[in-house]
Amino acid sequence: MSPSYSIRPEAAGDQAAIHDLVERAFAPMPFSDGDEQDLVDALRDAGDLALSLVAVSAQGTVIGHVGFSPVTIDHKACDWFQMAPVSVTPELQHQGIGSALIRAGIEQLRSAGAGGVAVVGNPVYYERFGFAVQDGLTPESERDLPYFRAQALAGDMPQGTLRYAPAFYGPQQ
Ligand SMILES: CC(C)(COP(=O)(O)OP(=O)(O)OC[C@H]1O[C@@H](n2cnc3c(N)ncnc32)[C@H](O)[C@@H]1OP(=O)(O)O)[C@@H](O)C(=O)NCCC(=O)NCCS
Repeated sequence: MSPSYSIRPEAAGDQAAIHDLVERAFAPMPFSDGDEQDLVDALRDAGDLALSLVAVSAQGTVIGHVGFSPVTIDHKACDWFQMAPVSVTPELQHQGIGSALIRAGIEQLRSAGAGGVAVVGNPVYYERFGFAVQDGLTPESERDLPYFRAQALAGDMPQGTLRYAPAFYGPQQ
């Protein structure tokens, strides 16, 4: 049976539950640096968690999360966003909660007039949400290039080098 849950924006008091959820979701992942939960906190502290959605069970438990933060393209603000991280509690993965969070986030950004969204991750998973390789739009971090996908939500596809919010580059930058 699929779980009963709702999706809403992060509210005051959710922070500790989101931190714990992100930590548990990424702990088994071989590619994880083990600090994705700190990234969410750092983005929030810097005022860069532009959109933060949680999936909440019928009992009120936070079971999923997705965050979006502003990026620059060729060092200019552009109303584009990076989607990261995406987390679903390990016991409830593969039941559509991550997909629902991603779709809700993209639709909220579209409604708000955002230019587009980028993501770094498994292309097989993310291409189903409209993300694709875009000629001329590349991440600043070369390491991310094979996993980098983007989609425009309004206007033309921008060209240039996309730089994530400072929290992605660690506390020193
Ligand atoms: C990735 C994640 C958010 C997806 O949420 P979910 O609720 O489990 O996903 P959904 O049920 O909506 O989608 C399931 C589909 O995604 C695929 N999928 C799930 N996680 C995947 C992953 N890490 N890589 C590739 N595909 C993945 C499943 O194979 C499934 O595909 P199918 O329907 O074709 O079989 C969740 O599995 C998670 O928290 N994983 C650990 C943290 C993580 O890897 N985050 C993403 C980093 S890029």
